[in-house]
Amino acid sequence: MSRKVSCLGEDIIPPCHVGVIMDGNGRWAKKRGLPRKFGHREGAKNFRSITKHAKAVGIDYLTYYAFSTENWKRPQDEVEAIMDLFDKYLDEVNDFIEENIRIRFIGDRSVLRPSLQAKMANVEETSKDFDAMTLVLAINYGGRAEICHCVRNLAQMVRGGEIDPEDITEELIEQNLYTQEIPPLDLVIRPSGEQRLSNFMIWQAAYAEFYYSNVLWPDFKNGDFDRAILDFCERNRRFGGI
Ligand code: FPP
Repeated sequence: MSRKVSCLGEDIIPPCHVGVIMDGNGRWAKKRGLPRKFGHREGAKNFRSITKHAKAVGIDYLTYYAFSTENWKRPQDEVEAIMDLFDKYLDEVNDFIEENIRIRFIGDRSVLRPSLQAKMANVEETSKDFDAMTLVLAINYGGRAEICHCVRNLAQMVRGGEIDPEDITEELIEQNLYTQEIPPLDLVIRPSGEQRLSNFMIWQAAYAEFYYSNVLWPDFKNGDFDRAILDFCERNRRFGGI
């Protein structure tokens, strides 16, 4: 679906799948003497505007790392504030539905608030045939947990006699990850100066390009996103070849 678009005055073919690690909300708030949850609120606003922009740039799949399996270690009021932001977003998500954006969630949702789980199922169902862009939200997501989930599924299939161990291929693994039918990541953007993957889509990022920026997520604007895309377009991807 990728096609030529103009980005910062250059004609480019945008990456198909971009992942974003929304980092730096806490520091953004701290710099202003505000509680951390204000940083997440600002981060959520930015998530909305970057999503619209990414669609305009021609990105087909945009995945955000919104809450990791490790983020439960944070103080309870911060976790609650982030869950409230998801809840609010899902109530207002009609904006995206009007924009013809398909929404998917990855991660273990079984431990989330039941009301949140119901809204997630509803928005996935309502938007399932939309095709302007796929927005993927990783909530209670961890790459290692995803691989455990996949291995458990495959082990059950072997035990049930549906497959032999020799039938386990990369394709079969991919079909049993949360991301089934979602292509691998082409580009991972991490703002806020940290240069690590933090358990984000470790299988799907195998050949991703990485783009790091010192800008904190709430301050990461359309121009920053465009610079990441343009930088990606100048890379020489070899996928292990020469
Ligand atoms: C990391 O920054 C951010 C998070 C763990 C939460 C991200 C969640 C949101 C922005 C809310 C998203 C809402 C919707 C609707 C998708 P940090 O807190 O680790 O920042 P720090 O490194 O500066 O402390």
